[in-house]
Amino acid sequence: MNHSPYVLVLYYSRTGSTRALAEALARGIESTGVEARLRTVPPVSPDNKAGLPEIPDEGAVYCSKDDLRHCAGLLMGSPTRFGNMAAPLKYFIDSASDLWLNGELINKPAGVFTSTASLHGGQESTLLSMMLPLLHQGMIISGIPYSEKELNTTTTGGTPYGASHHGENASLDSTEQALCHAQGKRIASLALKLKGDE
Ligand SMILES: Cc1cc2nc3c(=O)[nH]c(=O)nc-3n(C[C@H](O)[C@H](O)[C@H](O)COP(=O)(O)O)c2cc1C
Repeated sequence: MNHSPYVLVLYYSRTGSTRALAEALARGIESTGVEARLRTVPPVSPDNKAGLPEIPDEGAVYCSKDDLRHCAGLLMGSPTRFGNMAAPLKYFIDSASDLWLNGELINKPAGVFTSTASLHGGQESTLLSMMLPLLHQGMIISGIPYSEKELNTTTTGGTPYGASHHGENASLDSTEQALCHAQGKRIASLALKLKGDE
């Protein structure tokens, strides 16, 4: 079956910051005419998501395996938790071994984004480690090039490894927004180019 190309923006967010990044990235994706598909993942608990509704009370709906399988590109975001991605996102990614076995994500472009409470609280370690499972999946990792001038001037979030937010609340400043826009636009353009090479 042919699907019109979309970039999956897959994220976990408990207090809204990573969600704000996801929404800003989606605007960058859609500036190219490509669909941005926003999806989240349920929290995990000792009894593993028992009793959770299929549709969350607010925000994006939960990601299905098919949302991931058929994407033309992926942006994956998580709050930083002890310098690493949050367990609910890792739980979802660890459930994707069938996609790995069948090589279904090979050669698709991917990028990552994160949010932290403190300035030096581990954005880069989170972003770099979030790339590892995507490399195992055979995805083509891209970040944000320094031709985006805000990378040189930011005093908050925004890294060459991916978009980010730093702060106590979920409101992004103009620099963080601009870098989200650039990353979203870039991954969508790459998705279109790579799809053309199939
Ligand atoms: C268990 C836990 C661990 C955290 N670890 C870090 C950390 O290592 N560095 C940091 O700066 N913030 C840390 N935080 C704060 C979150 O990363 C930060 O508030 C983030 O912006 C929340 O994103 P969200 O609003 O999308 O949930 C942690 C929060 C929790 C609950």
